[in-house]
Amino acid sequence: MAQRLLQKAPGPADARTPLSAPARLRVRWLQAEDLPVMAAWERDPEIAHLMGRRFQTDADVREWWGTLNRGGDRLGFAILLDGRLIGDMELLHISRAGQEAEVRICIGEKAAWNHGYGTVALDRLMRLAFSDLGLTRVYLRVTRDNHRAIRCYAHLGFKKRARLRATGRLSGQPDLILMDVTAWSVTAADR
Ligand SMILES: CC(C)(COP(=O)(O)OP(=O)(O)OC[C@H]1O[C@@H](n2cnc3c(N)ncnc32)[C@H](O)[C@@H]1OP(=O)(O)O)[C@@H](O)C(=O)NCCC(=O)NCCS
Repeated sequence: MAQRLLQKAPGPADARTPLSAPARLRVRWLQAEDLPVMAAWERDPEIAHLMGRRFQTDADVREWWGTLNRGGDRLGFAILLDGRLIGDMELLHISRAGQEAEVRICIGEKAAWNHGYGTVALDRLMRLAFSDLGLTRVYLRVTRDNHRAIRCYAHLGFKKRARLRATGRLSGQPDLILMDVTAWSVTAADR
């Protein structure tokens, strides 16, 4: 069903991206064959800095994958450009009762940065989250110095809500910004 849901019409963000982008870009469920490519992205120091490290060991990857898309509180998606994997997205901490979830996105292929693909892919995921999963709020954390990501999120209606100081283990790293977008604000922006 989700495959059908994810093929929805391009969203409003597509107006500002190259005309060819929406047709070339596809979002589908993550598959096991995607994991080695994602692991390679994770080893890139720049991406690790922007994303934070999710996995320390192969066992971490197996544990993460073992519970993804299996009816729990996490859903994972692949972003394909012309059929090639360029990034991934995850809805996590999905709360049906609270009607909210956290989102993270990583375009791992650096050559694909700044082409509007992140905005288009996330726009499609937000439509799935609000229309089909029935969520009313999606939030995310982003490092304060990640200006590209913050601009991408702002295009989709995410607002800065709080600044989380980097302390303890994270001391010396950039502070985190908490952003969120609600179903109501997206609906209002569509009018
Ligand atoms: C963040 C990410 C998803 C954005 O996707 P993208 O396809 O590269 O971004 P888009 O092209 O859709 O939008 C980026 C916007 O930031 C702007 N931008 C790029 N670099 C910038 C900078 N240094 N300062 C300010 N704005 C910048 C672009 O011009 C564009 O805005 P515009 O459309 O108004 O011109 C993607 O770059 C990525 O995954 N990066 C690596 C991992 C990461 O940072 N993930 C997010 C962690 S919270």
